[in-house]
Amino acid sequence: MNTPLFTPDEQKKFDAEIAELLSHYPADRKSAAMLPALRALQAIKGWCPPEGLALVAERLGTTRERAYEVASFYVMYHLKKPGKYTVDVCTNLSCSLWGAEKMLAYLEQKLGLKAGEANERFFLRETECLASCGTAPCLQINEDHHESLTRAKLDALIDKLP
Ligand code: FES
Repeated sequence: MNTPLFTPDEQKKFDAEIAELLSHYPADRKSAAMLPALRALQAIKGWCPPEGLALVAERLGTTRERAYEVASFYVMYHLKKPGKYTVDVCTNLSCSLWGAEKMLAYLEQKLGLKAGEANERFFLRETECLASCGTAPCLQINEDHHESLTRAKLDALIDKLP
């Protein structure tokens, strides 16, 4: 027997969030709520599993292929279960000029992962500009932004994670 996608509490939360979202869209335009609906799914499950994409598609009156197309287009949606912490390192121009590649190499060594790889604790990846070029280099951990990084700041940041 398949494990249900949601616990009862998660199901309640998902249903309430989708209902609230859909209250802002005309009945014949429900699929326009795809981005926030996927975000709601990911906020609950930590990623967008295939059965979750199918459920979002059903609630929005569209196909699971459409949900997959959207989720796979945007880097912020996880189609594989990430580690507990997603570390997005900006390697775009300003951060690069301020040592982002060295910072990434240091993180790869510290976490024992190459960019793009994950273990149970971390998912490390490069990302495009995080709109914080004036305080480069920067990264995000689970969407929490950290800037003007040095190796000491990076160590403190990573080492204090529970
Ligand atoms: S280049 Fe890194 S924040 Fe813009």
